[in-house]
Amino acid sequence: ASTHGEGPFIAAIDQGTTSSRCIVFDKDGRIVAVDQKEHEQIFPKPGWVEHDAAEIWTNVQQVVAGALEQAGITKADVKALGITNQRETTLLWDKATGEPVHNALVWQDTRTDTLCRELGRNVGQDRFRRETGLPLASYFSGPKIRWLLDNVDGLRERAERGELLFGTMDSWVIWNLTGGPDGGRHVTDVTNASRTMLMNLHSMSWDEKICQSMGVPMSLLPEIRSSAEVYGEAKGELAGVPVASALGDQQAALFGQTCFSEGEAKSTYGTGTFLLLNTGHEAVNSYNGLLTTVGYRIGDEQPVYALEGAIAVTGSLVQWMRDQMGLISTAAEIETLASSVEDNGGAYFVPAFSGLFAPYWRDDARGVIAGLTRYVTKAHLARAVLEATAWQTREIVDAMQKDSGVELTALKVDGGMTSNNLLMQTMSDFLDAPVVRPMVAETTCLGAAYAAGLAVGFWSDVDELRANWKRAAEWTPDMDAADRDREYKNWLKAVQRTMGWIE
Ligand code: G3P
Repeated sequence: ASTHGEGPFIAAIDQGTTSSRCIVFDKDGRIVAVDQKEHEQIFPKPGWVEHDAAEIWTNVQQVVAGALEQAGITKADVKALGITNQRETTLLWDKATGEPVHNALVWQDTRTDTLCRELGRNVGQDRFRRETGLPLASYFSGPKIRWLLDNVDGLRERAERGELLFGTMDSWVIWNLTGGPDGGRHVTDVTNASRTMLMNLHSMSWDEKICQSMGVPMSLLPEIRSSAEVYGEAKGELAGVPVASALGDQQAALFGQTCFSEGEAKSTYGTGTFLLLNTGHEAVNSYNGLLTTVGYRIGDEQPVYALEGAIAVTGSLVQWMRDQMGLISTAAEIETLASSVEDNGGAYFVPAFSGLFAPYWRDDARGVIAGLTRYVTKAHLARAVLEATAWQTREIVDAMQKDSGVELTALKVDGGMTSNNLLMQTMSDFLDAPVVRPMVAETTCLGAAYAAGLAVGFWSDVDELRANWKRAAEWTPDMDAADRDREYKNWLKAVQRTMGWIE
């Protein structure tokens, strides 16, 4: 049935910020079939972002069925199922009925900014950084759980009675896949757990003291497992298929890009952008606004850590231009529009829609467009939108170099926005380094598939996976150094204008 040999295959589910998808891969890591479905973005108030987790679970089931159908295969051809997901997005559900008790609070949601400031009062934003690798910011899950328990009627009592479960989307999907109220496995993996602000990075277990300070009952929390092992067998449509990996989407992309050695890095361009550098078995502290996080852990091997630069808004700025501003009708049009002018016409767009993430971590920032004159057209703005992604990457790369002392020789990129040639060229120009894209740009799903395949012996080791990585495209710098410096200075000036907007 498939054009890629007889199988067997590995299927991966990517439960992302804007959509859920399922991809079927063959033994060479090639894509056999893809199905994808978007879900609703719910914006109840400025800065708030929610998802309906029941809708997401329905979509996940549909895309799995859709991908298998497209591949012309049945569950018997699927050796294992891997899971990857938008990280930090926080859900509480009823253990007995499987019903979410509230919409999921999405990672972009800023409603916990005051709570985070209170938690950091007198001690500062780095109160839990030594244990968790993270600064106090509205991005992470712990404060979101606390917000739900404090603000939704009856939830704290129900939590204390042991009726509720917490999970990021990996836990939600795995619990449902493995039976839901009927014996579902309540687990998460080390990468996802490392984004809750509740896990101790060094012991890889929930930190009792932090849970207490954060007001989160530990009975809510899933069991922390490795990223590649069999958590259980699926029930329902996929009955019997081992559910064998879970990785936060950015860590999955690191895995899919086969960045298995210390010093290897990738940057993924989706809703946001996330640059991860493999730091080996050492959790490296950041002094320049990066996050220390778990890269992955294969079974009972030693964990691999990463330094991460997280940018909240990149692809979602293009979506905003399309959906909220109506300046383009498809995301791809941004490139055509931006290419119709030579430069940004003096305009700089800093999309601090969820505050500023790395390297600033300012919940009080909001977006600005700076440098406007009558001269500026929507084409210049389109250009400024793309440049925003490239400059934000440059800031992360600068921070990474300061923290690690390693000069960037080339950047491995992936994700939806990497099909934008103008953006890739701009990135190479702003970084003054080559930008390289692999043949399979769907590295997030690929990483989850790789981890699941390793767990069940479909692939024997990471060297076998490395051999699958093939270069598809490369962009090299072509910008005058003086122009670059001037533009970077203007960008940094515009960034300063976003801060302190929320009192
Ligand atoms: O930390 C948030 C990140 O995991 C979301 O990724 O690709 O769904 O925007 P994405």
